[in-house]
Amino acid sequence: MTQIAHDRLLIIDFGSQVTQLIARRLRELNVYCEIHPFNKVDDAFLRDFAPKAVILSGGPASVTEDGSPRAPQALFDMGKPVLGICYGQQVMMEQLGGKVESGHHREFGRAFVEPASDHRKDGIFSGMFAAGREEVWMSHGDRVTQMAPGFEIIGTSPNAPLAIVGDESRQFYAVQFHPEVHHTPNGRILLQNFVRLAGFTGDWTMGAYKEEAIRKIREQVGDKKVICGLSGGVDSSVAAVLIHEAIGDQLTCVFVDHGLMRQNEAEEVVAMFRDTYNIPLIHADEADLFIGALEGVSDPEVKRKTIGRLFIEVFEKHAKSVGGAEFLAQGTLYPDVIESVSFSGGPSVTIKSHHNVGGLPEKMGMKLVEPLRELFKDEVRALGRELGLPAHFIGRHPFPGPGLAIRCPGEITREKLDILRKADAVYIDQIRKHGLYDAIWQAFVALLPVRTVGVMGDGRTYDYACALRAVTSVDGMTADYYPFTHEFLGETATRIINEVNGINRVTYDITSKPPGTIEWE
Ligand code: XMP
Repeated sequence: MTQIAHDRLLIIDFGSQVTQLIARRLRELNVYCEIHPFNKVDDAFLRDFAPKAVILSGGPASVTEDGSPRAPQALFDMGKPVLGICYGQQVMMEQLGGKVESGHHREFGRAFVEPASDHRKDGIFSGMFAAGREEVWMSHGDRVTQMAPGFEIIGTSPNAPLAIVGDESRQFYAVQFHPEVHHTPNGRILLQNFVRLAGFTGDWTMGAYKEEAIRKIREQVGDKKVICGLSGGVDSSVAAVLIHEAIGDQLTCVFVDHGLMRQNEAEEVVAMFRDTYNIPLIHADEADLFIGALEGVSDPEVKRKTIGRLFIEVFEKHAKSVGGAEFLAQGTLYPDVIESVSFSGGPSVTIKSHHNVGGLPEKMGMKLVEPLRELFKDEVRALGRELGLPAHFIGRHPFPGPGLAIRCPGEITREKLDILRKADAVYIDQIRKHGLYDAIWQAFVALLPVRTVGVMGDGRTYDYACALRAVTSVDGMTADYYPFTHEFLGETATRIINEVNGINRVTYDITSKPPGTIEWE
């Protein structure tokens, strides 16, 4: 593996719910960072990774419990700046000779921190405390009762006298609150000060990333062939264009048209890749295969698994047809890669089997090319812009691998898919016309397996009902419904019923996630 050229910051994860936010904030500051679970970071790892600075995340454990997680002791002898957050603060104090006590001072939510009276307001505090105190978000049961030698108090709050402590000679800082969350409004400035003091220059730019990714792809693939499954979504499209820049026609894209695409989607994707990018593309029209196999299937998990299995079959066929591709390219993103640390040790519940091609290469005997593994969704979009993909393509809402099959609860038929496609096109057209597309994370119509009675003209109708869905979200993990105006909803319902044969009733889904999920199945 070649060394990455930019400065690297290591985030050691102790299992906090918000560790990913630390990475996001740092990436926004053009600092390259990676999250690694505490139990995978040992002395050898540290030497290899060669971080310019380290952040210790929060976590659910208590340092006062036997066997609770620790940072590798060597971390503190590397001469590199370290910032401990919440559990990370406590670990740091404990390991460096301070004391942490459990229990009696739980504190959750908003608090206010002031700089210690004799402390300067520059360095780690540059640009902060303009109003005398800073609002912060606390979430802890334990607290530090005695600082480690060499540290001094540099910020306090009424319930956390040691809210911010530091040993400035070693550039070790430790905070009780969470600077990475939005509820700590100036937390970003604190993180910025930390990385600036640590000597980061903000060299993590998409231009630099692109060049480096191209070099790495060439090195990995050599003169071998690669196939890339294109879904029409942003991630696989960006991956494909990037890989094509790296290895040209050694890459063949396979667009599996499973007959579950939206209106005009297949044509648009195929035209963009063939005509604009001149990338070799197999348009695998497999609608009969997929829709045939889904006949009579109404259970959502059986639908998902059937579709996943057929994707494997189609890829296998085409890996052979291009003369034996040794690599499969995927648009896997960083949030898919991060393994969160489970203290309970139990597997988490499967809510739905996402069609995830992660299992594919093993079964197919192929190696993976995943050039977006280090990126968040917004960074993938930035890379797409860097690669010259059209803006309307980059801003597309996510579309799930199983396509319209999971937006048609119950058994699917070609007739239902046609109705759904038309209604979805009207709905998205409405959203675009009202200038709302970019404010929404994802919007679509679900065709309900229910027929209802209506009256149109002088006649009775007995047609399907549909549900409109539109959500805001940061990463698809949680979501809220989009607050359309009643006028917008009324106008959209009228248009769908007038323009789409087969639907005579429109509802709006106002469920958040949780307790709902974004898709209906
Ligand atoms: P849910 O429905 O689980 O969806 O709240 C969260 C996000 O993931 C998308 N999604 C999928 N994407 N394959 C995908 O590539 C899938 O099987 C799949 N299922 C859901 C969904 O559209 C939303 O953006």
